[in-house]
Amino acid sequence: MNDIREILAAAAVRDLTRNEIVSLLGTHEADEQLLFDTAATVKSQYVGNITYFRGLVEWSNICAKNCLYCGIRHDNHKVIRYCVDDTEIMNAANYAAKRHWGSLVIQSGERQDKTFVNKVERMVKSIRQKYDLGITLSCGEQTIDTYRRWFEAGATRYLLRIEASDEELYYKIHINDRLHSYKNRLQALYDLQKTGYMTGTGVMIGLPFQTHEHLAGDLLFMKDFDIDMCGMGPYLEHADTPLYAYRHLLPSETERFNLTMKMVAILRIIMKDVNIASTTALQVIDPNGREKMLKVGANVIMPNITPVRYHEDYNIYVGKPKIAPETDDYIRTLEEQIRIAGDAVGYGQKGDPKHYFRRRSGQPLTADTSNLEPA
Ligand code: 5AD
Ligand code: SF4
Repeated sequence: MNDIREILAAAAVRDLTRNEIVSLLGTHEADEQLLFDTAATVKSQYVGNITYFRGLVEWSNICAKNCLYCGIRHDNHKVIRYCVDDTEIMNAANYAAKRHWGSLVIQSGERQDKTFVNKVERMVKSIRQKYDLGITLSCGEQTIDTYRRWFEAGATRYLLRIEASDEELYYKIHINDRLHSYKNRLQALYDLQKTGYMTGTGVMIGLPFQTHEHLAGDLLFMKDFDIDMCGMGPYLEHADTPLYAYRHLLPSETERFNLTMKMVAILRIIMKDVNIASTTALQVIDPNGREKMLKVGANVIMPNITPVRYHEDYNIYVGKPKIAPETDDYIRTLEEQIRIAGDAVGYGQKGDPKHYFRRRSGQPLTADTSNLEPA
């Protein structure tokens, strides 16, 4: 079966096959629009036309790893390393709380040393003591014991991208060693889910060597793993990384953008009640990228509230928006974009993924799952 209309109709009643997803990824023009419209309908039916804000703090760019694509990899000695200080992090939490955003995302490079683990734990506790904010951590692979400590401290969500779910492709973008083991990455995701976190993952889209079959596999991986949240965005090459040598293999930025939109739309259609973030990397290619992503299924936006003095140093990829995100003007623009995209902002709500509560309760998927969200 490869008629797009039939595939989209089938998605309402059964799981799609890899081939069917590949067909959806290959759509253009009218078929592509049909895919986007279906995703918009599913979003509205299953999670509602609401976008949740999370304040993103890029807490530290110190990283022990050497992912071949990432600008803040350990061996990039051009990077000035930092860790946001305690007062600044509390100010950021205060900023998010004052604006009724409901949640904070704390992201950092990956370290497993005791100082780091203790520091994260203390920070989570301090924020939770003072503010009624949901806390999402994105601090890489850790032992299950560390995940438990951070969970007990008050973090409830964790983002750990699988980056590429196909093992062979994974090892084209990571060295095969103890620090960058595919098996350990998978184990970390299982440990997060087992600990009780709302668990998020994601991939980069438009990588060298990546095919539509790989991307279809990524979506099926997310479905099989039963993730609660997803953040995925286009791969953006960085000159100070080894993967830059393969830039001649890259699809154009427009293709990467379109593919990202299709990945989001398909994920919304096949998983329905998960949270999907509209990521900053998309905005690098198209200034209106985030708003466009909301129209095809995304329901989370993470304004960057890292103190401005650190922005230049969290250079994962080149071209991150140079706007000072803290300004009220910026937030107003964002709200306007969300309104244009047809959504309301979920102020005062944590915006936990509905999927999490359904997964834990074992209830079947229905169009209205709002009754499963805790009061
Ligand atoms: N392009 C796009 N995304 C990147 N990331 C790291 N480097 C790049 C890049 N060059 C993403 C990875 C990582 C997240 C923090 O940033 O997916 O998980
Ligand atoms: Fe470190 Fe994450 Fe960058 Fe890999 S992607 S080098 S773990 S910050």
